[in-house]
Amino acid sequence: MANPDSRVTIHMAASLDGFIARKDGRVDWLETSDDFAGGVTMAPEAVEAFLETIDCYVMGSRTYETALRFEAQGFGWSYGDKPTFVLTSRELPRIRDTVEFHSGDLAQFVNGRLRPAFRSIWFVGGGMVAAECLRRGLADEVCYSIVPVLIGNGIPFFERLDRDVALHLVEVKGYKSGTVELRYEVRGPRGPGS
Ligand SMILES: NC(=O)c1ccc[n+]([C@@H]2O[C@H](COP(=O)([O-])OP(=O)(O)OC[C@H]3O[C@@H](n4cnc5c(N)ncnc54)[C@H](OP(=O)(O)O)[C@@H]3O)[C@@H](O)[C@H]2O)c1
Repeated sequence: MANPDSRVTIHMAASLDGFIARKDGRVDWLETSDDFAGGVTMAPEAVEAFLETIDCYVMGSRTYETALRFEAQGFGWSYGDKPTFVLTSRELPRIRDTVEFHSGDLAQFVNGRLRPAFRSIWFVGGGMVAAECLRRGLADEVCYSIVPVLIGNGIPFFERLDRDVALHLVEVKGYKSGTVELRYEVRGPRGPGS
């Protein structure tokens, strides 16, 4: 049974024109050199305290493969020691004990397995998984960080979303880096898949 206190948040960073990666998967454009005079900065301790509030991560296999490449290049693992669930139908390398693979119905997984066990559940991409999460009515919140750059083409934030999803704007934050963070609640009851 679903835990009424649990929250599913979809979080990604995207270019102003709505792409989360180039067509070939590169995310080099995430590093920008903007300086927004009125922007805020988050102290490392505040970032750490915020990350502590996240109980588990969920991602698609292509996002996991990007994380594996980052780690191999020495950039580390972004998900700390939190349980990280990777959606895949393939056999992929399991690089840490906190990583678990899952295939099968996403609504059953979220409502039957994740919601009873975790309070703050973060879907961290990519576009395919974010769209499935919304299509199935599983998300409570969308957190969209808009990076100050246009890249013209790439993998969209929500791949093949087939219906309108009404949102309620909850928070807007402008950072010194020029990134704008928008936090929305997904309006209405959770969908039929939930
Ligand atoms: N800018 C950002 O914040 C950000 C965040 C995340 C990712 N990204 C980038 O986005 C790109 C990846 O996005 P993407 O949309 O192409 O792919 P994705 O959503 O990361 O992964 C899609 C894959 O996950 C597996 N999958 C999805 N739903 C499943 C389900 N319900 N059950 C089992 N397996 C499922 C399938 O692969 P199998 O063949 O393995 O079954 C599917 O092809 C990467 O380049 C990544 O770097 C950017």
